[in-house]
Amino acid sequence: MERAIAEPLVWLNGALTPLSEARIPVLDRGFIFGDGIYEVVPVYALPVEAGGACVRVPFRGAQHFARLARSLDKVGIAAPFDEAGWRALVARLVEANVAAGVLAPDAHANVYVQITRGVAPRGHAFPAHATPTVFAMANPLVLPGAAQREHGVHCVTAEDRRWLHCDIKSTSLLGNVLMAQHAAEHGVYETIQLRDGFLTEASSANVWIVKDGALYAPPRSERILEGIRYGLLEELAQECAIRFEARDIGETELRNADEILVTSATREVLAVVSLDGARVGSGQPGPVYAALYAAYQRAKAREARNVHSA
Ligand code: PDD
Repeated sequence: MERAIAEPLVWLNGALTPLSEARIPVLDRGFIFGDGIYEVVPVYALPVEAGGACVRVPFRGAQHFARLARSLDKVGIAAPFDEAGWRALVARLVEANVAAGVLAPDAHANVYVQITRGVAPRGHAFPAHATPTVFAMANPLVLPGAAQREHGVHCVTAEDRRWLHCDIKSTSLLGNVLMAQHAAEHGVYETIQLRDGFLTEASSANVWIVKDGALYAPPRSERILEGIRYGLLEELAQECAIRFEARDIGETELRNADEILVTSATREVLAVVSLDGARVGSGQPGPVYAALYAAYQRAKAREARNVHSA
């Protein structure tokens, strides 16, 4: 007998709904204008003691929900929840999908949250009365596999042609979509973008370079999305006694880097070993990558212990 595949439960406007039944009206401004904000929160299932039961940790949850609030504020959408409300929603959503057999009890989850300005007759300016649409889903978190960890990934470069509010985690992602497609068409992992000769970021990740043992990243500005891993890597660099500096990185410096790293919720930290077909440094993931990756795993375990003892 074939086993039925469990159906995911998603959150839509105040209720958990089977994915196949979740509907939004076609006049939702998220659909019409890409008028919305999103977040991607990694929710790890981590054992507090070896062999013990797992606790579920929205990793760096405070920072993710603060960024969500900032993005909503920047585009004038009223926040539907505060941090405690978001945490409760995420916990309920993940638990429901574990109970439904969609997520294994020990599986890490990728929680996607989207808020749009809501449903209104089409017109560019904000509608006088619209209730934000709130949607969330929890999928298994697919982290880079062993081969990508061991050998790193390949990237190409392209001119950054996106708008200049990249600091807002907007669902208007066509510029990013085209960059991801550019990478796909070149058979590589990501596109690393340059604006006016300076490094910005990848299609869905922040980018870092290493030179002579020091770590560098473009400064926080409207040219990049400040990843939650931006602040985290600053902390981890300090923990590992790796000097960090935020400053503009020119194209030549990017191409001459000893190491290039990408970070995001779904990649954690990953080494880039070639750029436009040219080897980066030794052509293998380097020592700064290895130190930061190990520190990242320690930070996850620390947060699990803190959640457990809270
Ligand atoms: N993207 N820059 C861009 C353009 C991104 O889309 C992302 C993440 C990041 C890294 O942010 P963080 O460290 O908070 O994940 C930087 C998510 C994962 C996505 O769109 O799926």
